[in-house]
Amino acid sequence: MSREIRTVEDPAEAAAERIAEVVRGGGGHIALAGGSTPRRSYEQLADMGLNWNATDLWLGDERCVPPDHEHSNFRMVQEALVDRVPDENHPGAFHRIQGELGPHPGADAYEQEMRVSSLGREAPVAVFDLVLLGIGPDAHTASLFPNDPALGERERWAVGVETPGMAPLMSRVTLTLPVLNAAREVLFLISGADKADAVARAFGDAPDPSAPASLVRPERGALTVLLDEPAAARLPAAG
Ligand code: 6PG
Repeated sequence: MSREIRTVEDPAEAAAERIAEVVRGGGGHIALAGGSTPRRSYEQLADMGLNWNATDLWLGDERCVPPDHEHSNFRMVQEALVDRVPDENHPGAFHRIQGELGPHPGADAYEQEMRVSSLGREAPVAVFDLVLLGIGPDAHTASLFPNDPALGERERWAVGVETPGMAPLMSRVTLTLPVLNAAREVLFLISGADKADAVARAFGDAPDPSAPASLVRPERGALTVLLDEPAAARLPAAG
């Protein structure tokens, strides 16, 4: 694994630029993050005039709600990015997680969708070209929460999480660690002082199940952490 931690003025913009490079370079399979931080990246990407035809979009996790719900990650990405791109430049596909099925059937359906796509060709595990992740103040990432049994999953590509450790308190579907760690590239996008503790725990030395983001260590891929100064404040290098 190669790891780079970059403190930048505008991590959302830096993330948009990196995602754009991957799209321009041939696209492939990209898993996007939910939550609020990446919205601005997606809006910027929508304004870059990119052709997304060779890119399949996926999500790293989803809340168990219908796709038009205010807490739907699919809806957020659709509104911030896909709907703003001209039809002729739309992604090859946007594979949504059917959260409305409930956590376990939703995870089964999503895993099946990955397995029948070209991601399944590299089984035993899906290999994404790029996975964008965020981090919560409790150091969760995707919907992998501290000490949750989902962290121990070794076979499945997606699992249901009945009780998330943080708001919004609704069950979830998430990609698993074997999938995150098989990706060619993982990009964390993090901003704000409320993430500083989590950042120090996630990107310090030792992997720790009470800080799930620390377990994301792509075996053959590149890990890049894009963060602003407030989020980086408690990293050892920042003093
Ligand atoms: C979700 C996420 C989650 C998110 C972090 C950070 O669906 O909630 O995918 O892992 O990335 O909680 O979220 P914020 O950007 O909203 O702080």
